[in-house]
Order: sequence, then structure tokens, then C-alpha cells
Amino acid sequence: MTPSIKLALHGGPPVRRVPMPLRRAMGPAEEHMVAEVLDHYRRIGQDPGYQGPFEDRYTAAFAAKLGGGFADSVATGTAALYVALAALGLPPGSKVLCSPITDPGTLSAIILNGLVPRLMDSEPGSYNIGAGTFAARLAPDVRAAVVVHATGQAVDMDGVMAVARQHGIRVLEDCSQAHGACWKGRPVGTFGDIAAFSTMNRKAHITGGSGGVVFTRDRDLYHMALAHADRGKPVWQEGFDWRNPAQFLFPALNLHTDEISCAIGLASLERLDETIVRRLAYVAGIAGKLRRHSRACTVRPYSPGDSPFIIPVFVDAGMVSCDKMEFAHAVRAEGIDLNPHYEYVAATWPFLAGHLDDDFATPNAARACADSFVLYVNENYGETEVSDTVAALRKVEAHYTGGDAADGQ
Ligand SMILES: Cc1ncc(COP(=O)(O)O)c(C=O)c1O
Repeated sequence: MTPSIKLALHGGPPVRRVPMPLRRAMGPAEEHMVAEVLDHYRRIGQDPGYQGPFEDRYTAAFAAKLGGGFADSVATGTAALYVALAALGLPPGSKVLCSPITDPGTLSAIILNGLVPRLMDSEPGSYNIGAGTFAARLAPDVRAAVVVHATGQAVDMDGVMAVARQHGIRVLEDCSQAHGACWKGRPVGTFGDIAAFSTMNRKAHITGGSGGVVFTRDRDLYHMALAHADRGKPVWQEGFDWRNPAQFLFPALNLHTDEISCAIGLASLERLDETIVRRLAYVAGIAGKLRRHSRACTVRPYSPGDSPFIIPVFVDAGMVSCDKMEFAHAVRAEGIDLNPHYEYVAATWPFLAGHLDDDFATPNAARACADSFVLYVNENYGETEVSDTVAALRKVEAHYTGGDAADGQ
């Protein structure tokens, strides 16, 4: 046993002195597309607006990537969720099962549609639900479920859909963290009735600073989504007149996006596959090395069909002499980007009091977040970042286990 090197947290030299690589999702290809939009509209003597040729191209490309169907590009991921749920036309007050770990936008979209969220739990040791935890929360009046593919790992959609179909439950997939992910070779977003994606600047593919997409393979649902995204306009109907609100179907907000965002989306979508491959390489590198060289830290395996967004690292509390937070802060002090505690367990948010169907505390989800911190990842992380991350984890582990940090990687 060798004495561990002084932690950066305690004033020692950090493993990594340079910042982790920046992402730069707005690269030259995206800039080029913005120039193309401006050129196009200059040529035709107009200013770029919305629902024009660039949105048509983008939504067609997006739907093609999912194997065919219909897509509508909207202002944000939250708007996509809101519109997708509205399109389902559920009776007011219906209960909607919802994944336990997600963005507040998912819950807000349910509540603001006049529906009642009923939280499901995640599987033990996971941020995601499974068929069993879905089935465990069935109840009378449950009409729909929002299934989040959290952290970029695909949920077992065969299992979930079998339960949902058996009970007549409509399914909205929240794919915001899982662009391009697949379950058994089939893209997420194609299993449920409808899907929503956030395309804000931190997601695997972006439409700029913010954005979202609604996807469905059902033409009628698509039409409802279009109308709910833009003041009730039945744009698909023959003879529709944009300047005649008397034709609009119902009151609805204006949640659509614009031509410049869609052009950015086109460029960003082009490199989604490469983005995923590079991120998977980072996750695989870390997971493999931790399996061989760490006793206290575990990364739940990602499959080649996943699309990593963040990477939970589970710390075995029985093996280390500190709590998870101190461990995570120590790793971060070594120069590794991370979030020491993922605060996205919906059951813990005070603002949901009075809005949820019951006070189910989602114990597995709470435990999973309590036992883990999340590493960030982007497509510019490479071999050096794998080595540095693992070296930092091992150095911190050695310190808090009193063990030795290194016998190669
Ligand atoms: C799972 C999930 N759902 C919904 C959202 C909301 O998306 P947006 O921020 O684009 O409104 C996000 C991300 O922000 C998310 O990660």
C-alpha cells in the first residue's frame, strides 16, 4: 500500500491543470447554415420568419433520422412536451405517470395541460424507469405516461409499451437527453404515441440556444401538435388562410420556432451520429477502466445504442471514509467537470406540492442520485480526458480508502 498523493481539495497538485474541452456545438457548419438562411431570404427580398423551407428541410431530416414520421419544430423542449401532451387530447384531470428524474419542464407540461402527474420510480441503481416500476404505479384514471430516457440511456421500451398497451395508456417519450439513442436497434421516440425532444444548446443536437421537436408517426396526432404549437391553426387543411383566424380550431399558444434555428438544427443533426460515437468512446473508456481498477466507483454500462448526456458515477459508501458529496468535490478539485449531486428528483421539489397525484417519494430514484454524482461529457472529450478522469477518480478513491491509487490504467 502506497500513501496517497495529497488531494487538490487539500492543496495538492491537481491531476488536470487545463479545463476540460469546451463543446462548441455552434461550429463552422452551423455558422454556414445561418449564413445560408440569411442569403436565401435576402435573395427573395424578405426577412427570415418561421414555417418556411428551412423548417421543412429540418423536420423532414429529423423524421427521416427516426425512420419516417412527422416532426414539428418548436421553441423549447418544454414546449415540445406541452404540445405533445395537448395533442393527445386527454380528458382534464387525467392522471399521467411520469419518470422520477427529469427536468421541471416535463412536470410543468403535464400540470399546465390540466393533468395530474403521478410519479413512477426508477429501477434500483438507475436514473431510469423500467417495465416493473411502470406497472407498479398503475392506477384508475391513468391515461398517459411520460417516459424520460434520462442520462441518454434508452429505457426498456418493449417492456414499458407492453404494459402501457395492455392498460390503454398513451405514451409520450421524453427524448431530450437521448437524441439518436436506440432500444434494441430502434430509435427512442418511435415506441410511444408521440415524442418530445429538447434541442437547447446543451443537448446532443441543437437548434441554437433553445428549441424543441415534437415527433410522431401518427398523422392525426401530428396535425393536433401543429395546431397546439401555433394558436390552433389547421395549416394542413386545404384552403387554410393564414390571415383568417376565423378558421383556427381552438385557443392555443404560439410556441413555434424560426427559420434560423431550423437551419442550425440541420447542420447539427448531420453530426449527431459522430457526436454519439465520440461520447460513447469516452463512457466506454471510463467504465472499462473503473471496472478493472476501482472498487468504490461504478459506471452503469452504456450500450452502443445509448447517446450519453451525463454519466452517473456511483460511489460505494461502504468503501470510502467520506460522503458522496465530499468525494465528488474532491474529484472536481482534481480538474474534472462534474455535478456533485443531480438535483432532478421531482419528488423533492417543493413547488410540486399539491400538484402530484400522491406523495410517493420515488425511493430508488432518490437513492440513485444520493449515491452518485454526474460526470459531464461532450464530443471533444478523448483519450486524455478518459485518462485524466480515471486518474482523478482513482486518486480520490485511494485517499478515502487509504488504499493505493495506481497500478497502471
Ligand atoms: C429530460 C428533459 N426534459 C425536458 C427538458 C426541457 O427542455 P428545455 O430546456 O428545452 O425546455 C430537458 C432539458 O432541459 C430535459 O433534459
